[in-house]
Amino acid sequence: MTTTTSDPTTDEPVRFNPFAPGFVEDPYAQYARLRDDDPVHRSGLLHGWVVTRFDDVGKLLRDPSISSDVRKATPTPVTEIELSHLEGRSRGQQTVVLLDDPDHARVRKLMADPFKPRQIEALRQMIVDRVHEALDRLHDAHAGGSSRAEIDLIADFAYPLPVEIISEMLGIPGEDHPQFRYWTQCVARAVDPILSPDEQAECLAGLDEMYSYLEAVADEKRAHPDDGLVSTLVHAVEDGEVLTRDEVMSQLVTLYMAGHEPTASLIGAGMYALVRQPDQLARLRADRGQLRNAVSELLRFDGPNQFVRRITTQPTTVGDVELPAGEVIFASPASANRDPRRWGEDADRVVIDRTDAGQHLQFGAGPHACLGSHLARMQAEIAFDALLDRVHDIELAGEARWNTRMFIRGMDALPLTCTISAR
Ligand code: HEM
Repeated sequence: MTTTTSDPTTDEPVRFNPFAPGFVEDPYAQYARLRDDDPVHRSGLLHGWVVTRFDDVGKLLRDPSISSDVRKATPTPVTEIELSHLEGRSRGQQTVVLLDDPDHARVRKLMADPFKPRQIEALRQMIVDRVHEALDRLHDAHAGGSSRAEIDLIADFAYPLPVEIISEMLGIPGEDHPQFRYWTQCVARAVDPILSPDEQAECLAGLDEMYSYLEAVADEKRAHPDDGLVSTLVHAVEDGEVLTRDEVMSQLVTLYMAGHEPTASLIGAGMYALVRQPDQLARLRADRGQLRNAVSELLRFDGPNQFVRRITTQPTTVGDVELPAGEVIFASPASANRDPRRWGEDADRVVIDRTDAGQHLQFGAGPHACLGSHLARMQAEIAFDALLDRVHDIELAGEARWNTRMFIRGMDALPLTCTISAR
């Protein structure tokens, strides 16, 4: 079994510590140390294994013996807290993210249709319209583009946009969007393994309110079906199988959250990376043919998904470490995506035409690979295209403010100055 080694710069053994100063702004230096010194790291804090190299993370995600169901873990203080919250919740425990086969395959198949490329393509014009309407509002709010605008790219653009789009897909009226923003922050935070009891209680209360709201939406669509996403889920039938009422609700909550938190992060962190590497921003402005690849590269470079959790169900070798059944693993796509063993010595730079950028692990891999990847990519491509067309002379106007979440990293604020042109 690998033992923890020392860091030559500090003589401290390398240790996963999301509370370390600077981690929130830049977790990648810590990941680099873990990859070099202890790539399958026993974390006392998480009572599990932190896995950081590309090959190990990819193998784990594709290994059919590995579970996503926390109930299969040998109990630890962290899993016991989570289980007690799950058990305390009568509803919404069946999210596809945490199911194993055969339930996982059944539920995923029943919900997959609206996320296929053809169906997503049909949303393109709606997304283009929403993106330009958001930029029109910013343009009008800043003297019609005649003066320099000070904007917060997150609050003014990156966050509301995917909220509007997933809300539109789910049929939620505009006046309820701010409420959903609060609820989804609760849901995103509730998946973090380290939360105070007060934070947990607040998150769970928010989740409960959101659940009740979506339940009313589902009941309405049950009675009055249309061709929207909620109706599709409520009425989905595949090989005679249907989703139970609780399964429908669990997937709606999952989709709402999955539908915009990471997409907003991709737009915010992606623009931040480009502003800090102006040569790449200029290349992308000049050659929009690179856009698709550039979005992959931005996902690779600083995508939102820092960790996915898995459980061993049998003795499993990870790297050169033998793990027994029931161990909890925190596999890091974000670290894997910066592993120089896979990406080369320029792994810590954005290279918009990196030829293999599409091989990144931000959308996961294997049976749980992101169902919304076409939607997320299309939104990001349309958003960056419009930003590059209409937003010029972009400069940072202050510090970016990152959230403190361990699993889904994202920005709370990105102050920029720029000029915004008319459509
Ligand atoms: C940049 C944006 C996004 C990123 C980086 C992302 C990333 C991921 C990752 C890493 C997983 C796998 C989790 C695991 O293996 O445990 C996942 C699963 C999932 N994502 Fe996304 N996602 C994004 C956007 C979306 C969107 C827009 C939707 C839908 C509206 C979506 C829906 C889902 C669903 C339903 C799953 C669960 C799939 C399953 O368990 O079989 N995602 N996503």
